[in-house]
Amino acid sequence: MKLKIAVLAGDGIGPEIMEQGVAVLKAVAEKFGHEVSFKEALCGAHAIDEVGDPFPEETYQTCMDADAVLFASVGDPKFDNNPAAKVRPEQGLLAMRKKLGLFANIRPVTTFDCLVHNSPLKDELVRGADFICIRELTGGMYFGEKLEGDERAYDTNIYTRREVERILRVAYDYAMKRKRHLTVVDKANVLASSRLWRKVAQEMAPQYPDVVTDFMYVDNAAMRMIQEPRFFDVMVTENTFGDILTDEGSCITGSMGLLPSASTGEHTPVFEPIHGSWPQAKGLNIANPLAQILSVAMLFEYFDLQEEGKLIRKAVNASLDENIRTPEIQVDGGAQYGTREVGEWIVDYIRKA
Ligand code: IPM
Ligand code: MN
Repeated sequence: MKLKIAVLAGDGIGPEIMEQGVAVLKAVAEKFGHEVSFKEALCGAHAIDEVGDPFPEETYQTCMDADAVLFASVGDPKFDNNPAAKVRPEQGLLAMRKKLGLFANIRPVTTFDCLVHNSPLKDELVRGADFICIRELTGGMYFGEKLEGDERAYDTNIYTRREVERILRVAYDYAMKRKRHLTVVDKANVLASSRLWRKVAQEMAPQYPDVVTDFMYVDNAAMRMIQEPRFFDVMVTENTFGDILTDEGSCITGSMGLLPSASTGEHTPVFEPIHGSWPQAKGLNIANPLAQILSVAMLFEYFDLQEEGKLIRKAVNASLDENIRTPEIQVDGGAQYGTREVGEWIVDYIRKA
């Protein structure tokens, strides 16, 4: 297969983990005989500094021309601490989502047996938890009409039937491929937009008789994720709820640095780690490259290159088993490995496989 990849490394640790992600992508492509080309583009704080725009037109074009975007992370504290800043790196991310029509954000919450002791939850609760959160990504409060006054401010949470239907389709497709259990998370006891979600889901459910569909209020879902994370198989929810619940999901696994994601929709899909740009670690060669590397696995799987994805997952598991780990997950007395060393070990494993 021929693949054109847009590479958006962004800020903070982004360039370091991206280097390893690209190296793994190349190694897998070589092994399986795929022809891959890469084009780098600016985004985030780095793009604001260079051209005054966190998602410049040229980057947009590069993404549109590509088959897939490999994204790392954006953000810089110099913007966080400046409420008067006119443009922020995060706006680049939102612009990318909107312009590429990335309405479906797929965030797997996967636990690795050898890392469950890192979870803030008890081992026996979290071991084996494995679900996917499907977050609607281009609607709701993030993009609804806003007013930002000094005395009054609002954000509106608008959803259309079409937007709800298309994300539910994605969710049902995932449920069909997994354990056939879909949980629709909303706040239908209070919000009109949630009642539309529930109505549309209830209308669609009979088209998927093999899937058990249940409904859960978001407050209850937040609780259930902690009390019984294994309850969930596929969860689908609106933009803001999904933002919050996926952060919760990532930390209960005990391995935030290991979770990849995919955003898909109308144009080029984007693959990225769920963690942020960790500016304090920039240049220190300590960031975990595994979430970026697993995002490459999701990229291959998106193009139905299952064996390629499987090999990356196997290599990642092997690196964990052999304690080839970055400091935040290294075992007591384990050797020192940095971002680069972990990436190189995985590339080497793939070549020899
Ligand atoms: C995420 C992030 C973004 C969001 C921010 C950086 C705008 O938290 O991808 O979850 O809120 O969607
Ligand atoms: Mn978030």
